[in-house]
Formats: sequence, C-alpha cells, structure tokens
Amino acid sequence: MSNKPRVLLVDDQPGVLEMLGLFFDRAGFIVEKATDGKMALQKVNETQPDIVVLDVMMPGMSGIEVCKHLRSQPKTSQLPIIMLSAKGEVDDKIVGFEAGADDYVAKPVARQELLARANALLHRAQYTQIPTARIVTFVGAKGGVGTTTMAINVAAALNADGKSVTLTELQSHPGTMVHHLNMALAQDLGDLLALEPSQLNWREVNRRVVQHASGLRLLTAPQDGADFTLSVEHARSIIDALTIRTDFLILDIPTIAGKVMREALELTDLIILVTEPEVVSVKATHAKLTTLHDWSLSDRTRIVILSRSPSATMMKRDEIEIELGLNQNSDMILGVIPPAPEAFQQASQMGIPVIINKPHILSSRAIMDVTNKIKLYTHEI
Ligand SMILES: Nc1ncnc2c1ncn2[C@@H]1O[C@H](COP(=O)(O)OP(=O)(O)O)[C@@H](O)[C@H]1O
Ligand SMILES: [Mg+2]
Repeated sequence: MSNKPRVLLVDDQPGVLEMLGLFFDRAGFIVEKATDGKMALQKVNETQPDIVVLDVMMPGMSGIEVCKHLRSQPKTSQLPIIMLSAKGEVDDKIVGFEAGADDYVAKPVARQELLARANALLHRAQYTQIPTARIVTFVGAKGGVGTTTMAINVAAALNADGKSVTLTELQSHPGTMVHHLNMALAQDLGDLLALEPSQLNWREVNRRVVQHASGLRLLTAPQDGADFTLSVEHARSIIDALTIRTDFLILDIPTIAGKVMREALELTDLIILVTEPEVVSVKATHAKLTTLHDWSLSDRTRIVILSRSPSATMMKRDEIEIELGLNQNSDMILGVIPPAPEAFQQASQMGIPVIINKPHILSSRAIMDVTNKIKLYTHEI
C-alpha cells in the first residue's frame, strides 16, 4: 500500500483534467480521472480515493448529483469533496454546499489554491473519520493453544464472505503470523511502534497494512530481532486508525494481562478466549475468565476449544464446562474445533488458511460455524 494520497479528478474537459492531473501528480498524489458523473461514481468505488475534485457543470449527471449520491452512501458520506465551477457566484456555492461539498473553488482554477484546500481537507478528514469496524480479539488461555490459527482462519472466512477485514497481531515482540501465512513482509507493526503515538493517524497506520493474496489486510508483529515497546497510547491510536473503512478488525493478542492488553480488550466488541481440552489449559482458562470478570468484560467474552491432536486424555466439553463453572451446553462456548494436524501443517507451508485450502474438512466447518456466531454476536449478518 502506498502512503500517497489518492485524488479523483472529475471534469468533462480533457484539457482541465490533463493540467490538474499533472499538477497533483507533481504534488505527490496518485491521480485518478473521470470525464463524467457515472464514471466518477464507478472510479470512487474501484479506487477508493482520499479526496474528489468535482466539476459542477458536466453533460449527463452533474457534479451536484454526483455529490448528492456520494453523500447518500455510508461508505462515501464522509469522503472529502471539492467542487469546481466556472461560476463563482454565491448562489452556486450554496447549491454545492447544500449538495454536501466540503469546499468550493472557482474556475479558472488557481492550482495552488486548489492544492492547499485539498491538503487542508485531507488533514481534517483524518480527524473526523468515523470508525465502523467491529473489533474481535483472539487471545489464548496460554501460549501455543492455536490462537493465531483461529484468528487467521476466522479473518479469512469473514473475508471470503465479502467483508473487508484487517487482521492485526498486536504485540511488541516478534510473532508467528508471517510464518502461518508463509509471507516475508517489508513492513509491520514495528514501523509504527518506532513512531510517537501522536503520529499514528489513519494514513500512517494504514500505509503499513499489507494486502494478502486472499484480500485480507494484514499488520503483523515486529520482525525477529526487533525490540519495541507497545504503550497504551500506541495501542489505542493503532486500533482507532484500523477501525476506519473496514468491516472487521481482528486482533491477535498475546495474553490477558497488563494495561495495554486491557485497553485493547476494552475497545473490543467480542473477546474470543482460545483454549485446549486439557487440564492445564482449562485451569488457565478459568484464571483468565476471573480476570475478565474483574475487568467487567465477561459479557463480551466467549470461549473456543481447539484440539490439536487426537488424544485419549482429551477432556470432553461437559467436563470442561464443569471445571469452568458453566452450565451444560453453555453458550459461553462458541464451538469445539476438531484436530487435523496434517491439514493445518500443510496450510502453513502453503500460506493458505485451512478454511480456504480445505473448506470441507470438519475443522473448517467448525471454524465456519464459529465465524457465523461471531457475525451474529457483532450484528454483522
Ligand atoms: N485444529 C488443529 N489441528 C491440528 N493442529 C492445529 C489445529 N489448530 C492449530 N493447529 C496447529 O497448532 C500450532 C500452534 O498454533 P498457533 O496458532 O501458532 O498458537 P498460538 O497462537 O496460540 O501460540 C500451529 O502449528 C497450528 O498449525
Ligand atoms: Mg500466536
């Protein structure tokens, strides 16, 4: 992903488009162009510009109509729009503002003025963007129970279902997500932890987000050897920035302890505590549930039991429920994922989540079922 802002220029006069295109390009923008209203709406959809410069007078759909349409759609209701018109009359400005334009520049365009206004709008937009994502956080009762595996697969399932999903491994130390996905990434969370929290606006955070082949957006833990500190302010700013323009933010966090993780959990809509059907993990689950209760976060917590290898000593669901003080068939337990060691190993080798690579095996179906419950709990059906 590029850190350059993307501008969509809309004008029916090719000469004006050409001139403004060159100018914005030199000013460091990625330039998209449209020559009429319909094409403008299409380009907004396809290229997701950060700002639109819109001519009022165009044959067919006018700039005013385009503006009204963009404002009526949730995804573009906040998109910065500058209107451009040959008429510098007060009346036309009012019509433009009433249609929802943020600013107005008269033609012939003073390019420097247009650029200054565009930059000012972009700057302001970073402070007024509305967070829309549901936050679902995966955390293990202890290390090595399959938390990252669950986070990746649920994220992939939501993504395959047409949701826009950002998956983030939120920790100051190196993680395993890159290995699960068999990727070598040039940018990660470490780049953000090297900055001051006050610098972590939408643009800075999102330029570190990488697109996986599946369409999943990824922000992975710092690389091996790195040494960073993750402060409460860092966590808050990063989470805030990542909840803009995405349906789901999936967090994979190391543990339920300390101020930073508490902050992340308090910002979370649904906490998924991952555990194994084995005595030590279940005891650890009990302890984590107590902490979540003390933090008044029990209501938003659910449990997923993941068994990684077939074993005779595996605890049954009802035994786990008794150990945790839950009712039989408690809806605290979202699901039980059966083992499939080979499928999961192969998935990591290929860098393709099991749910995509082998959607029909029992483990995938169980993860799908958990994903549907997550959608239900977060009202994102
Ligand atoms: N249902 C499963 N069956 C078999 N192996 C699994 C299953 N789920 C996860 N695994 C394996 O368990 C290992 C540990 O998982 P990981 O998600 O990295 O744990 P954590 O994030 O809790 O440390 C991985 O090698 C993964 O492939
Ligand atoms: Mg992990």
